[in-house]
Amino acid sequence: LPTPTSAIRGPALTFTGDPFQAGLEDTLVYESDAIVAFGGGLITHFGPAGHVQPQLPADLAITSYGPDALISAGFIDSHVHFPQTPMIAAFGEQLLDWLNRYTFPTERKFADKAFAASVADVFLRENLRNGITTSCVYGTVFPQSVDALFEAAERLGMRLAAGKVMMNRNAPPDLLDTTQSSYDDSLALIRKWHGRGRLMYAITPRFAPTSTQEQLDAAGQLWDAFPDVYMQTHLSETTREIEWVSELFPGHAGYLDVYDHSKLCRPRAVFGHCIHLTDDELHAMHCTGSAIAHCPTSNFFLGSGCFDLYRAMDHGRPVRVGLGTDLGAGTSFSIFETLNAAYTAAQTHGQALTAGHAFYLATRGTARAMYLEDKVGSIATGMEADLVVLDMKSTPIIDYRMKFAEDIHDALFIQMIMGDDRAVQATFINGICQHRRNAN
Ligand code: GUN
Ligand code: ZN
Repeated sequence: LPTPTSAIRGPALTFTGDPFQAGLEDTLVYESDAIVAFGGGLITHFGPAGHVQPQLPADLAITSYGPDALISAGFIDSHVHFPQTPMIAAFGEQLLDWLNRYTFPTERKFADKAFAASVADVFLRENLRNGITTSCVYGTVFPQSVDALFEAAERLGMRLAAGKVMMNRNAPPDLLDTTQSSYDDSLALIRKWHGRGRLMYAITPRFAPTSTQEQLDAAGQLWDAFPDVYMQTHLSETTREIEWVSELFPGHAGYLDVYDHSKLCRPRAVFGHCIHLTDDELHAMHCTGSAIAHCPTSNFFLGSGCFDLYRAMDHGRPVRVGLGTDLGAGTSFSIFETLNAAYTAAQTHGQALTAGHAFYLATRGTARAMYLEDKVGSIATGMEADLVVLDMKSTPIIDYRMKFAEDIHDALFIQMIMGDDRAVQATFINGICQHRRNAN
């Protein structure tokens, strides 16, 4: 391991495993006074301050955040559309009308690389302000929009996956590619960006309605050629969409079968939404190692439905589930607001999502959904030094409410129900502080 060059001190939270499967007692680690030291982008030391401090070089500066802070692994967003940053909170439509009325006209502007670069800067700045250190991002159909995002992420040293949207039908003509051009453009982007620093490519057919089977097949073939990249798309978000897919792809067993037919169900496949999956489809997701991105603020905003997290996680055939903001159908960059919505969604299905489970989902759980849990999502020696420092008393009412919190579980729950970007006081990417609250 590298020699540590920085260290931070304060209360810390992390997970050593999956509390949905193994319970919180065996997986949640809380240290009331910890030191996390890092160097060369990796965590070199983590543990109780009294234990770690003697192991550190005597001249190493330690930044202390005090007892009202909480150090956590950075948050991970497994489903987000950076080009929709300028159209968050577009009024009044459900998915298919919303796409036509707001999304496609906005995405058209990303033919202009300079515009794409300006949005990428705002998008990544908001990620940092919200403690999001890794995300899996949709570009637009224009490859230069993906270049713009990767260039900005590379400057920050972020671990980020992204891809060019593939779509060759059922969208405005100037937003369409072809099977061949989408293959060629995606291939060139993979060669240019995948594995460069911490960047990763995601093959990105938007969703079945905007691709022919031929284009989905091409996506599967491209994945065969580069098996360690990601594949992201949307699945079973609304009932109207599902009906449309059954009309567009007759003769398939269901929506997931359309993707499976093109060999798109594998580890590192990230399917957004998945609200209306059948039991057979959930079983297939489990067997193929595919993941679901749960996007609760988006699902409520578009009136798409209410994802059943505990059904997906069923111990008999658990499916990997990550958390997604899904901006700009999602309404907030805040992971707290996203977890608040996840809590409400679970309640609707008669399940109470504990704060411990929720913080797992936002960190190690989403890392696991993306097959990244050996690199990010928890605080441990050898993990990449992507960290967030929370302020547990970020507003007057949270400060007041915290006086009545009895333990870390209460304190975390208060954050996820009442917190927002103000609760993020610092964000570290690759061991470097890239955001400090009130310091912009
Ligand atoms: N399905 C296909 N495209 C999109 C999109 O941009 N946002 C959401 N929420 N669903 C989609
Ligand atoms: Zn989406």
